[in-house]
Amino acid sequence: MIRIAPSILSADFARLAEEIRSVEEGGADWIHVDIMDGHFVPNLTFGPPVVAAIRPVTKLPLDVHLMIADPDRYIPAFAKAGADVISVHVEACVHLHRTIHFIKEQGVKAGVVLNPHTPVEMIRHVIGDVDLVLLMTVNPGFGGQAFIPAVVPKIREVARMASEQNKEVDIEVDGGINAETAPLCVEAGANVLVAGSAIYNERDRAAAIRALRTACAN
Ligand code: DX5
Ligand code: ZN
Repeated sequence: MIRIAPSILSADFARLAEEIRSVEEGGADWIHVDIMDGHFVPNLTFGPPVVAAIRPVTKLPLDVHLMIADPDRYIPAFAKAGADVISVHVEACVHLHRTIHFIKEQGVKAGVVLNPHTPVEMIRHVIGDVDLVLLMTVNPGFGGQAFIPAVVPKIREVARMASEQNKEVDIEVDGGINAETAPLCVEAGANVLVAGSAIYNERDRAAAIRALRTACAN
């Protein structure tokens, strides 16, 4: 089953509650929340208070994507704010195995994220410990960038690595996902699609979500 995770990075922040309700009513499965620190990535977004503010607005799981240096410092605060899944970048974690278990100790699902250039081999020894692998299909930092097709073989590699280890993981893709690129990712083994601009730039959110699902159903 394909899950659609609209990224609120492309929402109207002045009307965040309404923007979240529009995608929940439109058939979204998760809400993707992009946390940026202006250090790990060249952009700033929001912190735990905003996550806590949106928690009561939706019943959907909050999929928190940390694009921050030294994520261990903030993991408890995001868990307390109501995150259901917290994902950390391999490139930001010196002690990745420790960080993954630290997330799980907070009672939250754990994900690992790889930038487009980071080899899948980097997660071979932790894939058994995570609930989700997120493959960036753009360089993180901004919405509305073009999909990087070179990541597609990495999706296949993650799927193969997981099955070799008899491990069920969600495989999520993030960046430049639309009705053209989503099927390439699903065909390669992805089951969670993050989409920011492809959903929030459309007035009819339900139609945009439906278009993604239909494109992948063929
Ligand atoms: C990029 C973020 C994405 C972003 C995707 O750094 O991680 O979640 O919102 O936006 P689109 O779908 O517009 O590429
Ligand atoms: Zn993201």
